[in-house]
Amino acid sequence: MTNILRRVVVMIGGSGSNLQALIAHPHHGVHYDIVGVISHRPEAYGLQRAQKADIPTLVVDHTLFETREEFENALLEATRTFRPDWIALAGFMRVLSPLFIRAYAGRLLNIHPALLPKYKGLHTHRRVLAAGDAVHGASVHFATEDLDGGPVIAQRTVPVLPNDDETTLAARVLAVEHQLYPETLSRVIQGLLNIDQNLVTVDH
Ligand code: GRF
Repeated sequence: MTNILRRVVVMIGGSGSNLQALIAHPHHGVHYDIVGVISHRPEAYGLQRAQKADIPTLVVDHTLFETREEFENALLEATRTFRPDWIALAGFMRVLSPLFIRAYAGRLLNIHPALLPKYKGLHTHRRVLAAGDAVHGASVHFATEDLDGGPVIAQRTVPVLPNDDETTLAARVLAVEHQLYPETLSRVIQGLLNIDQNLVTVDH
């Protein structure tokens, strides 16, 4: 089946290992096309990953803007140059206001390193260890005006092992993120979404 609405812009702020996973996945170029990468940090290593894959990049350095509104207007302008159908946030570390979110409502995905709705926000691995949870994981969800609170599309779990520290646990979660994000993005782009009571299911 051909679906032309498969142009994806990935927004990053750091290492970009999820971006790398999205680029390297066999579904890239088949079910989705990454047509641009935008970073809010000029030194983000993910920019180099994109360049190596011949994907155009833009930097919208958040430190150069006085207000969130000016920053987000510049971000909107940057995204529009790539004419995206979808935006995938992958380590983009700025809170987005309704100004940006509304422009891409229903087409804006995020990956979060926890089993939402548990552990929204930062330092998820530390908080999971402190709580003594036996299970942790990652979630892909729609980004809405409710930070880390939009409808969850897919999750994958990992065990928390007795000797885990933040580093070992983070690595285990990141490894499943790298599978979960490309697979979920593909399914969302190809599939039919059912949204009910803040829960999204995807038909195959
Ligand atoms: C990932 O854990 C992602 O879930 C979180 O930030 C991290 C980004 O890592 N939002 P990377 O830049 O993709 O390597």
